[in-house]
Amino acid sequence: MPDTHPASAPSSSKLREVPPTAIIIFGASGDLTARKLIPALYNLNLDNLLPTDFYLFGFGRSSLPDSEFQQLNITHIKDFSRRLFNADKWSTVQSKTYYQTGSYETLSDFIILKEKIDALEKNIGKPIQLLFYLSTPPTVFKPTLENLGNSGLASRHLGTKLASKVIIEKPFGRDLGSAHDLNAIITHQFQENQVFRIDHYLGKETVQDLLILRFANSIFEPIWNLNYVNYVEITVAESLGVGKRGGYYDQSGALRDMIQNHIMQLLSLIAMEPPISTDPEDIRNEKVKLLKAIQPVKLAVDGGDVVRGQYEEGLIAGEKVPGYLQEADIYPNSYTETFVALKLLINNWRWNGVPFYVRSGKRMARRVSEIAIHFKYPHGSLFKEASKYDLIPNTLVIQIQPDEGSTLIINCKVPGLETRTQPIKMHFRYATTFGSETPEAYERLILDAMLHDNTLFIRSDEAETSWKLCTPILNFWQECKHHGLEKYTAGSWGPTTATELLWNDKHEWRKIDA
Ligand code: NDP
Ligand code: BG6
Repeated sequence: MPDTHPASAPSSSKLREVPPTAIIIFGASGDLTARKLIPALYNLNLDNLLPTDFYLFGFGRSSLPDSEFQQLNITHIKDFSRRLFNADKWSTVQSKTYYQTGSYETLSDFIILKEKIDALEKNIGKPIQLLFYLSTPPTVFKPTLENLGNSGLASRHLGTKLASKVIIEKPFGRDLGSAHDLNAIITHQFQENQVFRIDHYLGKETVQDLLILRFANSIFEPIWNLNYVNYVEITVAESLGVGKRGGYYDQSGALRDMIQNHIMQLLSLIAMEPPISTDPEDIRNEKVKLLKAIQPVKLAVDGGDVVRGQYEEGLIAGEKVPGYLQEADIYPNSYTETFVALKLLINNWRWNGVPFYVRSGKRMARRVSEIAIHFKYPHGSLFKEASKYDLIPNTLVIQIQPDEGSTLIINCKVPGLETRTQPIKMHFRYATTFGSETPEAYERLILDAMLHDNTLFIRSDEAETSWKLCTPILNFWQECKHHGLEKYTAGSWGPTTATELLWNDKHEWRKIDA
């Protein structure tokens, strides 16, 4: 076998050329637009990834002249972009930025938008693809989608690669029934390949790397199964509380907000079978198969496989923070969970009997998302004397964020004339190897949608399969109300029952380094 690599492929930006595009953001006066969408467009433009014919439209009930929207966008870039504002660079987009005041419920407002776009197309003499971004609260998804259909905006250039596309923000429904209804509304107005259901975790570099780690390296796949893996942990912990989003969060809770989407995506990528190709459908087929193989969760107030908690006053980074019930816009007697831990079992040949423990919470000790694969103890170890040999089972930790990278924990001989062992960590850090300037998730996702690549987006059956697992849990909690809701101190790792969930199986959550 030659020991050399083939000549490197042409750079991705040359392969991935965006056609003339107009992005239309519904809810353009909102928080997501300010913090994520406009900064993402700014950074794509800075990297020359937007086409020369790129147009930005805001749409919403707020009355904003074009100039005010343009000015606001500059403020958002200055406040939230990962790179400094460069007025010259942005001027090309700025001069093609418009805002239309309109109601999401009023068809004539959508027809005016369509007329503007038709006129623009005529003016530049080229067809333009439209990318709609639904960045409003989900209550207005339905009328917006219907008006996109009824105005003819949804069907422009259908059948060509310039066909209109729509990005739909989370939450994608509240339960299985509402997700199913939303899918029905969407597919009435759009074909599935025009639809991009977003889960921003899929846009994170480290999450994209899961496929590469597993399937572009030959050492992992042979041991990625019940013969070698003891258990798997997925932690998505936040130190922030609900902030200004109390109104939304109190109706949602951690299971809907984080587990049903972000954690289930991480789980499906880490546990799925190898796809037969990198075609989006092949990857999504495997993810759905995996989600379908997860067993219904054992539900009981005591001794079930699910723990839910709510934070109380505590200390975060030495600062006193209020409890959940004292946060703004929270119902005083709320039993909404801000923490969830689940034990999941996957009924297939690869994973039968291997527990997957997942947890997510707000106001936890620190912000960290990681996946830990705990391998089994070595068979018939030669090194049995506990006083001399500090042996641990191997663990592969994939740090999703922050401090992105991975760590392999192995046993090593302590240098010296005696044979003693000690666990050591082999570290890889993205920042050290590649530098710290990695694109934000929304940059990659918006670019992919413009390029009609839906690999990193959720298919309708993925969303519904995940809801199928989560909905019985939500229904159970609805019946239990406060019964079984554990309290935990802000700044801790969650309720003690979450620790017991693993102890019952003689496992424990990894002690995450400070
Ligand atoms: P906002 O609450 O800021 O709303 C966005 C815009 O929608 C508002 O500026 C407003 O624009 C319009 N709007 C608000 N409420 C209503 C209403 N009741 N009826 C009609 N229009 C309304 O939302 P965000 O920007 O925070 O979020 C947008 C979407 O993105 C949501 O679906 C959210 O769940 C999702 N999301 C948000 C995240 C975030 O960090 N903000 C993170 C992940 C997902 P106008 O009055 O001008 O029409
Ligand atoms: C969002 C949730 O989807 O993800 C928020 O609605 C949460 O509650 C956020 O804070 C976490 O995202 P990230 O990228 O900061 O881990």
